[in-house]
Amino acid sequence: MANLVAPKVQKQAVSVTRKMAASLPGLREIANKRGLKVHHLGAGYPHPEVTDPRGFLQHQERYFAHLREQEGLNDPDVLPEYLRESYSYTDTLGPVSVRETFARVYGKDWNLTLDPSKLIPTVGASGGISLICSMFERSGEQVAYITDAPTYAGFTARAALCQHASIFSVDMDGEGPKPELMRKQIRAARQQGNFVPFYYTVPDGHNPGGFSFTQKRREEIMAVVQEEGILIVEDAPYLYINFANADKRPKPFFSMAPDQVVHLFTGSKIGFPGPRVGFLYSEAELEISKGQSVPLSELALVESSSELLFHNPGALMGFEALLHEADGQGGFTELQSMWPLAESKLVVYRENREILLQVLEQELGPHRKFFSWTLPDGGFFTVFSFLADGINGPVLTDDAMVEKMVMEHGLVVIPMYDFYPKDARQRDTGAGMNQLRLSFCFSESAGQARRDDMREAIMAFCVAAKALVGIAA
Ligand SMILES: Cc1ncc(COP(=O)(O)O)c(C=O)c1O
Repeated sequence: MANLVAPKVQKQAVSVTRKMAASLPGLREIANKRGLKVHHLGAGYPHPEVTDPRGFLQHQERYFAHLREQEGLNDPDVLPEYLRESYSYTDTLGPVSVRETFARVYGKDWNLTLDPSKLIPTVGASGGISLICSMFERSGEQVAYITDAPTYAGFTARAALCQHASIFSVDMDGEGPKPELMRKQIRAARQQGNFVPFYYTVPDGHNPGGFSFTQKRREEIMAVVQEEGILIVEDAPYLYINFANADKRPKPFFSMAPDQVVHLFTGSKIGFPGPRVGFLYSEAELEISKGQSVPLSELALVESSSELLFHNPGALMGFEALLHEADGQGGFTELQSMWPLAESKLVVYRENREILLQVLEQELGPHRKFFSWTLPDGGFFTVFSFLADGINGPVLTDDAMVEKMVMEHGLVVIPMYDFYPKDARQRDTGAGMNQLRLSFCFSESAGQARRDDMREAIMAFCVAAKALVGIAA
């Protein structure tokens, strides 16, 4: 074995979601041996019922045939341009037609004129997170990121890779992060010698918070970041996985001030996670030396070109196909909106969410002294809290409790404590220690069997929750 000495390389802690995924096969075996059915309330994966790629592949093939026709190619020996480009080296920005189409369709939805030359392809939203962190970490100066407590584990995992980056987190209430606390944290981070580039968040369908920020709070947060001179990195995987009425939906940050925001779009939830399509978009300008400003998108492009070189052009062309619909006469027209795409997915998530909320209310509503749960206006999750001490004392949602939930009830749930950044757990050692994240996005069944499974899973959860606080089922 090669013995490379690397004293400054640090081993990162494994996130609780990964630990859970790794231990699941073993736990599932034990649960099965005990005759328990396994209920999935842990995974944050899109539902298989709405991510069957076969229909999409047919649609893509027809769209590509249409592109070929448009090129006027009758000779089968001539290579169509879309196919050549899909398998070639491209510029870091990728095929222009994809960005132009996406800019028009997405822009219409959010009432913005998006500049396609500022759309940087990323490897999903994860790639966008990594890209924006890399950009600000490159100089080697100490950086501090502001984020929510709790926050997305993929963000804290990425930030932890950089040894000169730290996190200053902001506690939330039912509307979003507390604005004055955010201001305090920005200032504290600066006082400790950090450069503070941005505040990272998931305002719609917060993962793991299980709610969407109110419009009022978004405006308050926007005022704080504008006054303090930092950006918002808006991670938006659930923008369209939205359960609010159209007239009640708050505005995404980038539609409020595109020059103050770095918006991360991903195709993972509205399309498919596998192709890893995403875009980073920002109209921000950065002052890089006295009096010299450059568009953030240009810096991101340079960063991306050395990190990725370029995104898979075939996957991007597939995304372009998704943004078109057949006109019934062999032709294709561009979508006027991405909401119809979302609607095909929302059918499942809306039903699952309804079942979750209805069963929780029915079973635990009469015991609100012991329990509370968030109402998700978007996304895949609710946060379930054990409130007052039960007859058996306080309920601790640690790893041991979560393992017991699988082994004794077949329930896969995720403890919340790991989603609280380190500083939040130092402020409050009990942060998240009475909370679970319940997801309603995933099961192994479809149609009526899915609905039945969802109901059964939440019923099983309610039985377990009642037993934990010591009230009769
Ligand atoms: C808040 C958040 N950001 C990013 C991601 C990762 O998305 P992608 O597949 O686009 O990398 C997820 C996935 O669940 C998420 O919940």
